[in-house]
Amino acid sequence: MIGVFDSGMGGLTAVKEILKLKPDAGLIFFGDTGRVPYGTRSRETIINYALQDARFLASKRVDAILVACGTVSSTAMPELKKMLDIPVLGVVEATAEAAVKATKNGRVGVIGTPATVNSGSYVNYINAVDPSIETFSQACPLFVPLVEEGLFSADCDITRLTAEHYLARLREKEIDTLILGCTHYPVMAEAIGRALPGVTLINSGAESARRLSDMGLLKDSGGAEYFVSDSTEHFAGLASRFLGMPLNGRVGYVEIDKY
Ligand code: DGL
Repeated sequence: MIGVFDSGMGGLTAVKEILKLKPDAGLIFFGDTGRVPYGTRSRETIINYALQDARFLASKRVDAILVACGTVSSTAMPELKKMLDIPVLGVVEATAEAAVKATKNGRVGVIGTPATVNSGSYVNYINAVDPSIETFSQACPLFVPLVEEGLFSADCDITRLTAEHYLARLREKEIDTLILGCTHYPVMAEAIGRALPGVTLINSGAESARRLSDMGLLKDSGGAEYFVSDSTEHFAGLASRFLGMPLNGRVGYVEIDKY
């Protein structure tokens, strides 16, 4: 059974891809909806929260953990790997490799939370794979709260204007590929795509789900269970929009401060 966690609802974009690859995959998802967003917090806070999230999943005896959060993947991987004695995978490597493969003009944009962009995680990994690629990064701090509120339709004026505001500079840079470096962003893909026409969008949830599958870490073992640290009703009401299908699995509340 695989454990998947995120600061909030965004990690469900990775769960969606896992369920596409293995509809009956055994998985436990934790969304820290009571403390989202992480991406505007200090490194120390992000690490503390991530260790608690992983301890909760480890208490459920998962065989491996997917950190379905660009922010935690960019900030806390060494600490998580040190604490856990099971495989733990972040989203950065698989996503950066997919962008390197996708670009034709060698100009790649990276969007993410402020913590992710400031860490330079995607850019460093891209340059390690192919130093000739030029990268252009942009933090988009308002995207996560918009998505958590369910305001992600491309026809919503607030979403459209926010996307245009953040992405105008990347448009001038003539990128042909854009990393959606936060797992909340794929649900805004249409709004992002309209602001950057013709650009290939790389979905970090999808790339890391494929990587899990390639590593043989997805097992058919009895479906999904979901846990959150805030209202289970709010989560259940929005989850199907992230998953693109009805939420099929129990939703429980976790007092995450206890872990
Ligand atoms: N889904 C998280 C990520 O991938 C959102 C971070 C946040 O809570 O700010 O970065």
